[in-house]
Amino acid sequence: MTGNMSIRAKIISMGSTESGKSCIIKRYCEKRFVNKYLATIGIDYGVTKIRVKDRDVKINIFDMAGHPIFYEVRNEFYKDTQGALLVYDITDRKSFEALEFWLTEMKQEIGDPLYMDKIVFAVCANKIDKKSKRVVDELEGQLWADSKGFLYFETSACSGEGINEMFNKLFDGVVVAFENGGRVKRIETTLGYTKEQVEAVKCLKNGHNDFERLGIKAGSSKDEINKAYRKLAVLLHPDKTVAPQSEEAFKILVSARTNLLSGK
Ligand code: GTP
Ligand code: MG
Repeated sequence: MTGNMSIRAKIISMGSTESGKSCIIKRYCEKRFVNKYLATIGIDYGVTKIRVKDRDVKINIFDMAGHPIFYEVRNEFYKDTQGALLVYDITDRKSFEALEFWLTEMKQEIGDPLYMDKIVFAVCANKIDKKSKRVVDELEGQLWADSKGFLYFETSACSGEGINEMFNKLFDGVVVAFENGGRVKRIETTLGYTKEQVEAVKCLKNGHNDFERLGIKAGSSKDEINKAYRKLAVLLHPDKTVAPQSEEAFKILVSARTNLLSGK
């Protein structure tokens, strides 16, 4: 008997309506995907049992409705939570921007700000199968999660990508917190890279031409090109930064400069 080893955990899902909360949970619990949208009315409830590090963990999942009209139902369920999914749809920027709103609603309902530190959060950038419609890129999502010290996952309830990994890491986090007397180990929040570096990476990756990539005016002189290059090279040198995708950006930087100068 390992009765004394068993624990129970309450997990809730948060995020805009239609971001895919119910589908993510269904994919994990029932290994299937439902294409048709069936709005959650208030709350759905499910139970599952898992084993983490020699412990039986009974997981109670409360799948919340994202629609504003269900606020009165949702607000009852925030308390005594150990783990939370924060789901957004990568094809819908509003759902990403709403993450702050969800945290605020939760904080208000829980009342005790210290309790927020006892919850493991898993940010789910969902619907990654819809690549061509993506409007919130990985870097942006990752940065937001990092800035809060939350876990971050790219998921698709449709293909199943990332779903098991996300739940496993979330449950691991909950069990570790339980063993630490309820304290959650946050991901290191001192990122090791700056916003400026992230902006430079974005600019290099999303620029429509080499001038844009270097962040300078079209038709800039050789001197201006070299100046912009040097500044970015210092910022993004592979030895100096661990910002996501900086290695790739550095390569783009080098080739952008080469292209521009060869045209001079
Ligand atoms: P509420 O219950 O209203 O808060 O919505 P929800 O967040 O639970 O959304 P739900 O899981 O019901 O999914 C909304 C719609 O998005 C459905 O039509 C799903 O089929 C679709 N959907 C969910 N996840 C994915 C995904 O990963 N990829 C794709 N392509 N569609 C998805
Ligand atoms: Mg739902």
